[in-house]
Amino acid sequence: MIEHRDRRDAFGLIAGAGLASVALLSGCAKGAADRDGDKESGDEDVTANEDLMREHGVLRRILVAYREIAPKLAAGGAGVDAASLFQAADLFRTFGERYHEQLLEEQHIFPIVRKAGGKGAPIVDTLLAQHARGREITAYVLDRTKAGRIATGDGERLSRALLAFTRMYEAHAAREDTIIFPAFKASIGEKAYEQLGDQFEDIEKREFGGDGFDMALAKVEKIERALGVSDLAAFTAPAIGA
Ligand SMILES: [Fe+2]
Ligand SMILES: [Fe+2]
Repeated sequence: MIEHRDRRDAFGLIAGAGLASVALLSGCAKGAADRDGDKESGDEDVTANEDLMREHGVLRRILVAYREIAPKLAAGGAGVDAASLFQAADLFRTFGERYHEQLLEEQHIFPIVRKAGGKGAPIVDTLLAQHARGREITAYVLDRTKAGRIATGDGERLSRALLAFTRMYEAHAAREDTIIFPAFKASIGEKAYEQLGDQFEDIEKREFGGDGFDMALAKVEKIERALGVSDLAAFTAPAIGA
């Protein structure tokens, strides 16, 4: 169960007198120490935006699975591994919605981008509405698959929900990658950016008890295999005219 322990810290940071707060600066020394430790232990040191974007990569792989199984669901759901679809939606909920969206974007990224003004600020409300709609759809998918089978009559509605979710989230994540994350990086200083990257890593470790990205990647690969969508070569487009 994920607790939203960072809300007060994040809002304190944003509401404070600029981003160079005492907490932020004191965190820099800790961050440098952590990075040295990471180098010694062989752990990767990823920047905040790299971290956010590779999280999108895991989420996109779930979207690919959703799109691939949607036609089977529309045809009634025979042959769809409902338990694996449940696991896919559950991974989207824990890694995508509770961690990536709520703990990083909503508590840290969006307030900074909104406060900075500029190109990213006007789309924040839409991104928040899409987070909310996504959570509704994920809750529906979880509810309809929790029994480990697709009930008669649910397949078509599930298919439409997954395709609508995929359409929304592709546009959503693409805007974040190209507008929001660059605006976030540009609107804070280099030190604050580095320190927030370390803070994100700390949140990730706390939430998942280790490297959340590695754990999510292993889970999505397992789900892909179970749903029969793990072969990358199967996605190569046919030749023109074939
Ligand atoms: Fe988002
Ligand atoms: Fe995102």
